[in-house]
This record gives sequence, C-alpha cells and structure tokens, in this order.
Amino acid sequence: MRAFVVGGAGFIGSHLVDRIISEGGSVTIFDNLSVGKREFIAGALASGRAALEVGDALDLEHLTRAMPGHDTVFHLAANPEARWGLERTRLDLEQGTIATYNSLEAARLAKVPTFVFSSSGTVYGNFSEPCGEMDLGHLPISLYGASKFAGEALIASYVECFGLHGRIARFGNVVGPRGTHGAILDFCKKLAAHPEYLDVLGNGSQAKPYLHVSDCVSGLLHIRAHTKAPLDVFNLAPPDTTSVRRIAELCVAASPNPSARIEYGGGTQGWPGDVPVSRIKPDKLAAAGFKVRFASDQAVAQAVSEVAREVFGG
Ligand SMILES: NC(=O)c1ccc[n+]([C@@H]2O[C@H](COP(=O)([O-])OP(=O)(O)OC[C@H]3O[C@@H](n4cnc5c(N)ncnc54)[C@H](O)[C@@H]3O)[C@@H](O)[C@H]2O)c1
Repeated sequence: MRAFVVGGAGFIGSHLVDRIISEGGSVTIFDNLSVGKREFIAGALASGRAALEVGDALDLEHLTRAMPGHDTVFHLAANPEARWGLERTRLDLEQGTIATYNSLEAARLAKVPTFVFSSSGTVYGNFSEPCGEMDLGHLPISLYGASKFAGEALIASYVECFGLHGRIARFGNVVGPRGTHGAILDFCKKLAAHPEYLDVLGNGSQAKPYLHVSDCVSGLLHIRAHTKAPLDVFNLAPPDTTSVRRIAELCVAASPNPSARIEYGGGTQGWPGDVPVSRIKPDKLAAAGFKVRFASDQAVAQAVSEVAREVFGG
C-alpha cells in the first residue's frame, strides 16, 4: 500500500501509520501538527518508509500537489473535541466538512482510487438503541456529528460522480496510548494536577462503546482490504458500552492517590450535543470477517493502564 494519511501524526493516525509500515507499506503523513506530534511518528519516519508533509487540509492546492502516486487516502484530520463546536461554531464546518471535501477533491484530481474516512457513531444522533448502519432516522445532535454526516454524504457523491471507492468507518470512542483528547486522558491529567479530587462532567451514567486503538487500526485496514462495493459503510466499535463512572473510578485507582474523591457535575449529558448513551451494532463488519479483540470494558481497562503510565509515569 502507498497510503496518504491526512491527520497521520495524531492519535489514531500515528498508530495506523505504524501498522501500515509494519505490514510493508509506505506512507505520506499530511498533518498541520495542530494536535498531532512529531514524537508520535518519530519511529515511522526513522524507518524510511514514511515521510511527513506539514500542511493544512484547508489548503486544497497543497493537498493536490502532495497526493499523486498514492493508492489510498485515509482522511483522519478533524476537530478533535466535539464540545469545542459549542464555542466556535465554524470549527466543524471547516475542519470537518471542508477539510473532507478538500481531501476528496485532491484524491479526484490526483487520481487516487480509494478513500477511507474516519466517521463516528455521532451520526446516529441521540438514540440509545443499538444502531446498525441503516439506523439514520435520528440526525446528529452536535456540530461535530453534523460534519461527519456531511462528510459521508460528500463521499457517497464522489463515489457516484467520479468513480472513487469510498470506505466509511463509524468509530465508537477510541482509546489507547498517544491519546490527544477524551475522558481517560482528561481524567488522568486532572488527577496529575489535583491528586485529591476528580471533577466529572455529567452524573457519570453516560455510556459509550470504547474501541481500543489497536482494534480501530485493524478494523480500518480490514475495511480497506476486504470490501468490494464502490461505497461501503461499517460501524467499528464493540457492541457493549462502558460508563463514565467506571472510567473515572479506574483512573482514580490508577492514579498516585487512589482515594481521590470523585465529584459529578450532574445531568445526564457531559455537555449540550453529547449523546448520553450510544450503542453501535458491529454485526455488518463481523459478517465481513472482522471482530474487535477488546470488549468495551477491556479496551477501557487496557487504555487506562497505558494512559496512566504516560501521564503519571512508572
Ligand atoms: N478518537 C476518537 O474517539 C474518535 C471517535 C470517532 C471518530 N474519530 C475521528 O477519527 C479521526 C482521528 O481522530 P484522533 O482521535 O486521532 O484525533 P487527533 O486530533 O489526535 O488526530 C487528528 C490529526 O489531524 C491533524 N489535523 C487537524 N486538523 C488538520 C488540518 N486542517 N490539516 C491537517 N491536519 C490536521 C491534527 O494535527 C492531528 O494530528 C478524526 O477524524 C476523528 O473525528 C475519533
């Protein structure tokens, strides 16, 4: 594979880059390093099989110049924090919808045949029943989710109009080492700064399917390699969920002060636009031959120990 990974220096992207290289492929990492870090991709760059192109996905001309010669685009760049859209309402339009359009348009102009997109379970909106790929009766409730939905629609249109192959993966909440955001990292950082207490948004009952980043990468590569239809959409998540309360307790237990008190902010949502309980059916991907290695609780337990090591040391 000659992959072009937009957002390849970030959390999921850097793990994807490492895996592609370990399987004999080569990668161009296109990243503006707004969130991604050079240290995440240092090993990949040292291998000689990856190159870093520092650039912004809002710069269509740069993307188009950098993309020829690759066979697959993985588009992973996005606003990393869904709740930032509450403060900056153009953020997801630009970093989500327009950045996705630019990557697609560059792929068309550069004649890259396959486009893989990191979508999210947020496209299902506030619907606590387990969602299959066709359960789109509830529209997204965050600007982040709206931009993923728009990105998916653009991909479907490019597939139909220009003959691109589109692969859409709707992730659960991805966890693991090199995290740049998310509850586990937030909690561990808060506990490092204030070991005596942990304040948690919402009442702790929010529950999501947590996907270990190793499973996320395996799933993405499986989707790329094993689907034949011009456009295909898959949920990529375990079928079960883990509550925020459980994550908070595990982070406290892994912190230097395991008796830190947990203070809940109250309410069923972490913030307006947060889906309190989301459940995703992985059946379609299972039928296509891929199952995650870690159930949600296992993914969280594994990630808490990995992130705790990064944040607290030891
Ligand atoms: N982490 C999750 O739980 C999760 C869940 C569902 C979907 N996703 C999606 O997966 C993708 C990767 O997520 P992540 O957790 O690795 O996030 P991340 O923020 O760690 O990685 C995104 C990378 O994109 C880069 N980037 C951002 N805007 C850019 C731009 N305009 N031009 C060039 N580079 C840019 C950042 O520097 C970063 O390296 C995102 O699209 C995200 O929406 C993530």
